[in-house]
Amino acid sequence: MDRFLVQGGRPLEGRVTISGAKNAALPAMAAALLTSERMVLHNVPRVRDIGTMRSLLDELGVDSSVTHDEVGNTLEIQAVRLLNSQAPYELVKQMRASILVLGPLLARFAEARVSLPGGCAIGARPVNLHLKGLEKLGATIDLEHGYIHARASRLKGAAFYFDTVSVTGTENLMMAAVLAEGETLLENAAREPEVEDLATLLVKMGARIEGMGTDCLRIHGVGALHGAEHRIIPDRIETGTFLTAAGVTGGRLILEHVEPAHVTAVMAKLEAAGVRIVPSGDHELIATGPQNLRAADVTTQEYPGFPTDMQAQYMALATQAQGSSVITETIFENRYLHALELVRMGADIQVEGRQAVVRGRTALSGAPVQASDLRASASLVLAALAASGETLIDRVYHIDRGYERIEEKLVKIGARIRRVLDD
Ligand code: EPZ
Repeated sequence: MDRFLVQGGRPLEGRVTISGAKNAALPAMAAALLTSERMVLHNVPRVRDIGTMRSLLDELGVDSSVTHDEVGNTLEIQAVRLLNSQAPYELVKQMRASILVLGPLLARFAEARVSLPGGCAIGARPVNLHLKGLEKLGATIDLEHGYIHARASRLKGAAFYFDTVSVTGTENLMMAAVLAEGETLLENAAREPEVEDLATLLVKMGARIEGMGTDCLRIHGVGALHGAEHRIIPDRIETGTFLTAAGVTGGRLILEHVEPAHVTAVMAKLEAAGVRIVPSGDHELIATGPQNLRAADVTTQEYPGFPTDMQAQYMALATQAQGSSVITETIFENRYLHALELVRMGADIQVEGRQAVVRGRTALSGAPVQASDLRASASLVLAALAASGETLIDRVYHIDRGYERIEEKLVKIGARIRRVLDD
């Protein structure tokens, strides 16, 4: 497995191009199943999860082709017909977001078999709301041999309330409802920019959706959807990660191709910690790290609150802040695995249930550490950049899932990091 070797202690300086959002591209790719016409997606990030989703579409018999652009890829997808409507365990276990094909397969082809995604490092991550919502729309759902077997001759519009806000749950049900008969009301729906981007794409395909960007989506089913061309939104988590990198290394970074409106909670928190962030033009941010970071508490919340996907990265910064920062993770029950690795590098962190108290500033020293999940690995990279000495980060395939060639972007802004290929 690949590893990163990082020599820390140097401020990062320069320009970083932010890639398209993985978590917007994945549902957009699944949405291609809703039409027999050609779908063209621009600004798709070159990350592992996109490759996995292409393999899944290929498994279903759906053609896709990719062209490399200056930034990111353009994907062309056309789901004329299916070879089968099964998302196999081998692919789903690599990427839980495979569940996103369930709604569209059911809506267009009246049947789907998707392996039940297991839990993962950060929590149990059930999909009960996806299934309850589809049943409300008239689907028959059987769980057999670890697979979800869903059938529905024609889905019928209904009202569904999400007990818990679910990003992919909202996306799955939205994609099921656009071809259902009649009207669907999704209440307590997720408002993440990636959900809104999917709704924008579906409307371009001919869907009728009201309330985009709100927690109440009203969808009027239509007979069929046509192809569309769409540009994926910038990755707000990669944006937050590099803003944090400027803060934790005391450097100055210019981030381009960003959407500032999608990172307001992250910018507010980083500014409270002393990072200066100023917009320059509509899609550029300049972040300058201070000499001394200040402690600031954070609680993760659904959008537009501080995102859970930025909690691990913020924790790395909090270790370098003067004072105690109380971090509260409200979305996932086990999202502190990175804390134990940061402690091995010299951090002072006490985890009690959903809360972690970080006492700073502690000098971090390089050490061999292990990544456990996508955002934990980003946290370890940030800590390694701030540490003195050398850090060897194992299992960086986690980071490759959601960050496009992060070591190349980091080297360009002065980081001493290189990928060590395992023999
Ligand atoms: C999406 O996961 C993202 N993934 C995650 O990003 C992100 O952390 C998460 O939303 C929260 O923002 C993609 O978009 C591909 P949820 P998702 O359903 O949809 C509970 C990353 O780093 N829940 O919003 O799986 C669940 O257990 C990844 O890119 C149920 O109980 O998350 C969790 O506690 C990591 N039943 C909470 O809701 C359900 O049926 C939020 O989960 C569904 C969810």
